This record gives sequence, structure tokens and C-alpha cells, in this order.
Amino acid sequence: MQEKLIIFDTTLRDGEQSPGASMTRDEKLHIAKALEKMRVDIIEAGFPIASEGDFESVKAVAQTVTDSTVCGLARALDKDIDRAAEALKPAQSPRIHTFLATSAIHMREKLRMSPEQVLEHAIHAVKRARRYTDNVEFSPEDAGRSDFDFLCRVIEAAITAGANTINIPDTVGYNLPQFFGELIKRLMNTIPNADKAIFSVHCHNDLGLAVGNSLAAVLNGARQVECTINGLGERAGNAALEEIVMAVRTRNDVFTCDTELDTTQIVHCSRLVSTITGFPVQPNKAIVGANAFAHESGIHQDGILKSRETYEIMRAEDVGWNANRMVLGKHSGRNAFSTRLRELGFSFSKEEDLNAAFLRFKALADKKHEVYDDDLQALVSDTVKEGMDESIKLISLKAMIETGEVPTASVTLSINGEEQQAQAEGSGPVDAAFKAIESMVNSGCDLQLYSVNSISNGTDSQGEVTVRIDQAGRIVNGLGIDTDIVIASAKAYISALNKVIDYQERAHPQI
Ligand code: KIV
Ligand code: ZN
Repeated sequence: MQEKLIIFDTTLRDGEQSPGASMTRDEKLHIAKALEKMRVDIIEAGFPIASEGDFESVKAVAQTVTDSTVCGLARALDKDIDRAAEALKPAQSPRIHTFLATSAIHMREKLRMSPEQVLEHAIHAVKRARRYTDNVEFSPEDAGRSDFDFLCRVIEAAITAGANTINIPDTVGYNLPQFFGELIKRLMNTIPNADKAIFSVHCHNDLGLAVGNSLAAVLNGARQVECTINGLGERAGNAALEEIVMAVRTRNDVFTCDTELDTTQIVHCSRLVSTITGFPVQPNKAIVGANAFAHESGIHQDGILKSRETYEIMRAEDVGWNANRMVLGKHSGRNAFSTRLRELGFSFSKEEDLNAAFLRFKALADKKHEVYDDDLQALVSDTVKEGMDESIKLISLKAMIETGEVPTASVTLSINGEEQQAQAEGSGPVDAAFKAIESMVNSGCDLQLYSVNSISNGTDSQGEVTVRIDQAGRIVNGLGIDTDIVIASAKAYISALNKVIDYQERAHPQI
């Protein structure tokens, strides 16, 4: 009998701390439902004290998700813990995750607290969280750079105060696998009440070692891993969920534990997070990259044809790749459409939303004939956005290009319900469209990234455009999808501008 490895997904919290990856409440709900379907054990839905928007998102996830535990983050402060408890009230299985830094540099420079004060605050915070739930996690932030003896004292006291999960974060991604594994083993062997808590790890990827460090910890006794879809997260990101889960499963000859995840949902979750955040997945990314199971060299292809195991250690279908088959076309009906969406994990709470999505599907099928799962996913995300109360909406766009002529674009927007129209010239039709939009919106933002991807193969494929803008230091990503890449680009730019506006209403304090 294998022991269980608990998967704690923090895409909606640490993942959202990636510059530009902020998500709306509805987007978070979408991801939470997909994570629940994948049978993630714990979903960290956000940091409720951070803003009204974060509070509402955690509450919405707590109201909706029933099969996974829903967790809210709180500093070791009464107001944070009370706010997290309030947001988690509707959850069937709530967890409060409270944290306080224990490294000398963080205590001295950031907290300006003595070690004794930190110890006292940690105990108080855990006790306060226990007033609301018996499922409390404590993280000594920057544990990876903390003094070992002090770390032991704080953890022992936190367990005595009622924490049943102790999470060891490598907050700045400084650790190396061998030493991090040894640290976990030493902590578990030294702390007298260590057997009263589950040891967890939370590794950042600053040296590209987040997954390696997490796996070393698991080999040394950790039984919870905190991770994110596609490795999203603060700075260089967190450990990638898909890599952790598949490493443990594929190498069950060395791991004595396993997760209960439905791994066939992995590619779907990866695409969903990428579409919503506008962070593309690099083609050579393990497990979920477009090339992860592609074989280019003749020798490899020959080997695969003779026996798949010659060059493949996992089956593509086990992580959900083959689910991406062509499913629908312009003759497909509403029933086939909604059935396939349900199979992909999408459901609409309102009939009108399903009808709107079906109309978009028909329009798309008319243009590109073969509609793939990735197209459906993009279409649903777009429908969700359309239904949202966005300040700026694209009404129409006309772009003109001709060899030897200056490209121009004419754009009509609805801005706070009022129709406006503008024309501009540019170095190409996209540049002209952006200039026309900017002349109406006057955001003054700086365009930091513009990238185009095709969602499927062929020149009739939908183009997926990611735009990253910096508006007075606030960085946001926008994503737009259309069979016409000029329109996709305008949608992406408008989506980023709407996020800036949304963000202004829910200022995010630093952790
Ligand atoms: O990286 C970190 O230390 C964190 C904590 C809040 C667990 O994200
Ligand atoms: Zn973190």
C-alpha cells in the first residue's frame, strides 16, 4: 500500500503573483473547477486580506468547490486570519494557511522583530486560526535560509498550538536538492512532535530547482507538495504540478508514495491556465509543452514505431494529450457541443451563456471547419470575458494593407457604454489598430510584450495573441483569440486595458 502524497495547488495564489498573471473572480472559478475535476487535494484560492477582489474570489471558490479542500492565505496577523476565515465560511472543507518569516534577514530587515517575538506571533496566529477550523497550516517563510535550531523551535511550537500541516518554503529558491532533502529529514527527526503534522514543501524556481528540491523533500519524508500549473508563480515561479505528479508516478520504483490525481486532466488544466493568464507554455516544456511527446529525428521515430518504450517514458494519453482530437464541425448540434464542453470540464450556470457560446462556435466552424478541443477552450474563455462587465469592448475593426501603402486601421469601441471611433496609421495593421485604440483610451501604457501563437495547425487556425503592458508600474497580460490575428491582437490589447481598470479597483498590497 503506497502512502498518499497530498497535492496543494497554489496557482490561484502564488501563481497569481507572477507579474501580469492577475485573474478575475470568474477566471479563478473556472480554474478551481478544473483543479477539482483533476482531484487536486487542496486549492489555495487566494489571499483574502489582499483586496476586496481576492476576498470575493476565495469566497466564490469556497462556495463552489466541494471535492477539494479550499485554502486561504493569511499573514500571522489577527485581521488577516479573521478575513481568511470569513472568506472560507462557505467551504465544506476549509483550511487557513498562516505564515511568518523565520530567517535572520527577513526577521531583521523586513519584519523588524526579534526571534522571540516571531515565536510568540507564530503561536498566537496558529491558535487564532484554530478558532475557525481544525485544518491549519503554518509556514515559516524563508525556512530554506533559516537557522536550524530556531526553525525547530518555531515548528514545534506551531504544532503544539494546533497546526497540522507544516510547510517548509524555499521562498527565494536558494536551496539545492541534496541539502533540501536532508533538511526535511533532519527537521522530521529532530522536532519531538513532528509526527503530529504533515510536512509539506513549497519551492521557488530561481535556480531552476523547484521540482528537484520538492522531489528530494518527498524522498525524505515530505507528504505534501505545493505547486502550480505550468510552474506559474512569483519571479521564476513555483514547482510545476504536472512535473511533480508525473515524476512520482513514472518513478514509482523509487517513490513510496503517490498522488490521487486524475492525470488525464493535466493538459486541459495547463491550456486553461495559459489561456486565462496569457502566459504561453514553451514548446519544450516537460509534460505539457507542444513538443513533449513529439519525435523529430528519424532514429527516434523508427524506435517509437517498433516499440514505444524505446523513447517514451510516459504515455501522452495519460496526461491528456490524445484528448485533443478533432471533435466538432459546422454540422455539429447544440447537444454535441455542450456534451463535449462538459467532458472538457466546462459548464455554464446560465442558459444564455451556453447559447452565446454556441453561436460563437457556429461562427467559428463556418470559418475553420474543424474545431479542436483547444479551439473550444479558447472560445469558452472568450465567451466568459464577453459576459463580464468590462469597461472597454471592441465593436468593430477595419484594417487596410496594400503593398507600397501606409497601413491604416479604423476601430470602434464601446467605452463605459459609449460608442467611440478612431483611425490611425502604423507600421503594420496591428500597430495601426493599437494606435487607434490608444487614441481613444489614453492609457499611457508601455507595451512590453507582443506574441502570436497558432492554436491548432493550418492557416485557418485561430491565432492566440498575448500582450503585456506596463501601466504606471502595474504589469498585466491580455489575451485575444480570433481567426484574424489583427482582431485577436486588438482583443488582447483591450483585455489588458480592462485588467488595468479592474486592478485599479482592487489595489493589491505586497505580501
Ligand atoms: O514563497 C513563500 O514563502 C510563500 C509562503 C506564503 C508560503 O509563498
Ligand atoms: Zn511562494
